[in-house]
Amino acid sequence: MAKLTIKDVELRNKVVLMREDFNVPQDANLNITDDTRIRATIPTIKYILENGAKKLVLMSHLGRPDGKVIDKYSLKPVAQRLEELLGEQVNFLNDCVGDDVKKAVASSKERIILLENLRYHPEEGANDANFSKELSSLADIYVNDAFGTAHRAHASTEGVTHYLEAVSGFLLEKEIKYLGDALTNPEKPFVVILGGAKVSDKLGVIENLLPKCDCIIIGGGMAYTFLKAQGKQIGNSKLEKEKIDLAKNILEKAIQLKKEILLPIDHIVVSNVAADAQAEIAGEIIPEGKIAVDIGPKTITLFKDKLKSAKTIVWNGPLGIFEMDAFSKGTEEIAKFISTLSSLTQAKCVSIIGGGDTAAAVAKFKLEDKMTHISTGGGASLEFLEGKTLPGIAALAEK
Ligand code: 3PG
Repeated sequence: MAKLTIKDVELRNKVVLMREDFNVPQDANLNITDDTRIRATIPTIKYILENGAKKLVLMSHLGRPDGKVIDKYSLKPVAQRLEELLGEQVNFLNDCVGDDVKKAVASSKERIILLENLRYHPEEGANDANFSKELSSLADIYVNDAFGTAHRAHASTEGVTHYLEAVSGFLLEKEIKYLGDALTNPEKPFVVILGGAKVSDKLGVIENLLPKCDCIIIGGGMAYTFLKAQGKQIGNSKLEKEKIDLAKNILEKAIQLKKEILLPIDHIVVSNVAADAQAEIAGEIIPEGKIAVDIGPKTITLFKDKLKSAKTIVWNGPLGIFEMDAFSKGTEEIAKFISTLSSLTQAKCVSIIGGGDTAAAVAKFKLEDKMTHISTGGGASLEFLEGKTLPGIAALAEK
């Protein structure tokens, strides 16, 4: 069932309370190093203001301060970035609940107010009813646009919905649409690419998507447990010994379901993992002492060959240690290839990039504008792809 959105409700003269995911990366001097999550919320903010809302109260967490006030987790830098992006003053309050906050919201000359980090209060994570009530007392209506936090049943994502009409913003709506369509109604062939370090992190996604897709391409550190399960020599590459049987089961299940699982057939290997390590290409057999850090050239060709006819691609997890330039080629080549398939001029297929590391890789290669959808959620997009119900979404009113 679709969720009500800000387009379905009256905003005129309302005070709107909106949950954002402003959990952005910062450097040691607290400069924001990637403002994607802030920029992604601007269309919803603008719409709410353009449609006559009296005030817009924004709230978010940043990091995991565990219920304590820790300065480095302040949302103040986010207020500044919002002002730059909106060209309008943002009233930053140094708390999120209490009488002073209520008074400050009521008397604010600025239309946009940003509350301090919700997680400075342990009640946020505990989904405390009184804390939820306090938050909801600030406004007339609640909007959730924090897809990245939708997998948390917290006071600001679930609790408040018991006290205010609760609808989704455009960002959350878009995430539900793209990720949801890929799960329920993917245009075929549907190819899933999984990577990253651990099989255990992607297990739920494999179980949920194997029956729905045509092929799962596996790269990154997790591929080596699968190759070991096939009896291949993987040298000193990453191995989760206790997951070998599970990998065997998955490979068998794929055969039963007549689904394809594609694994790397050659590799970039090193003797020690370091940015300046001497790298070489290994074929199917990885010699003892060597560690695979990226997929090899034949694998890149193999994967591209499978992807070229895909109509839906979901990608979660890099295919090598892309953070080190020398080992980023596999991830970069595949990202570029997908971008040519899905960029607007050609639009041969829908490409959906799960958030977190894969989104960071796509950003590193400057391909953000060429993918159909890049999720702003890390853990949230993973849980969505696992087929789990996300409490922040479930709590919103249905159409
Ligand atoms: C994220 O970055 O994945 C979200 O902001 C959620 O953060 P959390 O894992 O600390 O709840």
